[in-house]
Amino acid sequence: MEKRSTFTGKIGFVLAAAGSAVGLGNLWRFPYLAAKYGGGMFLLVYIVLAITFGSVLMITEIAIGRKTQLSPLKAFGSLSKKWGWLGGLATVVPVLIFPYYCLIGGWVTKYAAVMLTGKVTQAADDSFFGEYISSTVNPLIWFLVFIVATTLVIIFGVNRGIEKLSKVLMPALIVLTVGLSVYVVTRPGALEGVKYYLLPNIKDLSVKTFLAALGQLFYSMSLAMGIMITYGSYFSKDESIEKASRQIEVFDTAIAFLAGLMIIPAVFAFSGGDKAALGSGPSLMFVTLPKVFNSMPGGSLIGALFFFLVLFAAITSSVSIMEAIVSGIIDRFRISRLKATLLVAVYGIIVGIACSFGFGIWSDFTILGFSILDFLDFVSNSVLLPLVGMLTCVVVGFVIKPDAILSEIELNGRFTMKKFYVAMVKWIAPIFIFAILVSSVLQGVGILNI
Ligand code: TRP
Repeated sequence: MEKRSTFTGKIGFVLAAAGSAVGLGNLWRFPYLAAKYGGGMFLLVYIVLAITFGSVLMITEIAIGRKTQLSPLKAFGSLSKKWGWLGGLATVVPVLIFPYYCLIGGWVTKYAAVMLTGKVTQAADDSFFGEYISSTVNPLIWFLVFIVATTLVIIFGVNRGIEKLSKVLMPALIVLTVGLSVYVVTRPGALEGVKYYLLPNIKDLSVKTFLAALGQLFYSMSLAMGIMITYGSYFSKDESIEKASRQIEVFDTAIAFLAGLMIIPAVFAFSGGDKAALGSGPSLMFVTLPKVFNSMPGGSLIGALFFFLVLFAAITSSVSIMEAIVSGIIDRFRISRLKATLLVAVYGIIVGIACSFGFGIWSDFTILGFSILDFLDFVSNSVLLPLVGMLTCVVVGFVIKPDAILSEIELNGRFTMKKFYVAMVKWIAPIFIFAILVSSVLQGVGILNI
């Protein structure tokens, strides 16, 4: 077996892990969920969950990876023979996410092109986005551009180049996002939106808010899908897992927070705080931001730059999602790298096309009331991620016992939240997640109403 290389120092690791974590989850998914689930209450629940569940799972996964030095598919099996399948279940998540992630990457590509050709006024029109995603051929072109680009990056192994590029482009994205949120927040009418986003209202607290925030947390930090186990297997034994985890979490959450601050108040300043707009789901960013760009001088150029940087963040994530599936397939079926990559690409294209048709010619076809994209998103984020997260805690708490993980974490000094960690991983996290999952299922079938 080839020796696993380690990252150069902690900063290298944190940057790589954070670079893969920051993507459409932060910029596209977080703001629309926050807008939909009551703004301030969602933000509060999200932050509380990030500090508790997020950090426990992040630490656990990095420690499992570093301890076993194995891929997620094999890591659980090496901890306990009986639980090997959990690694397999975790790798199902990237498989479900990949096609629709690339479809949304295609939407971002389209918007970068639209802005670049100066059509910002058209894009700011309310019907522009809906007409675009419901047409049959057009969205497929940009989707193919995105998924083929992702595939080429994997085939030609230019990840290193991309990593270097991301050291410049990611900070640029952050600077631009800060600038845009300052601009948005200072527009007339935006203050209402800032209040909506920051002040929790107790009436927005429901099981759904918890489930949505929990799923989003795992999705955004790439937890409960094997990714952080993989990163952990490359993490140097000389560095502190606790510190590195905290840095990734803070970074990822800060970017999601900023994206919300840029998008949610804009709904108030530019669409009059329209309740329907707040609940619009996946389309929120694409409908709202062009209005912002349209209102500023040089907006099409700034818009083009912004969507280009988002595109870059999306590509870095789609590459690592695809890589996770490809290496899973190679591990499992022992076929060549090229074959595995092409297989995943063809699968992604077929399912991605189905997702796109789900907004147009196939919009009458729904699964449990969800469109095809929303269904894949729901199964992966609201069912599988919490489930894998919960079972990971059960394995650590009761099968291998927390000490096995604690000894890995304590290789680099004292673990400051040891007691808290043990209580969380054994009892609080699994029971809480179980309760959330069960009550949301009961709610789904109409037995419960909270
Ligand atoms: N966390 C990424 C984001 O916020 C999305 C993502 C999901 C991801 N699964 C992944 C990234 C696997 C890398 C690898 O957009």
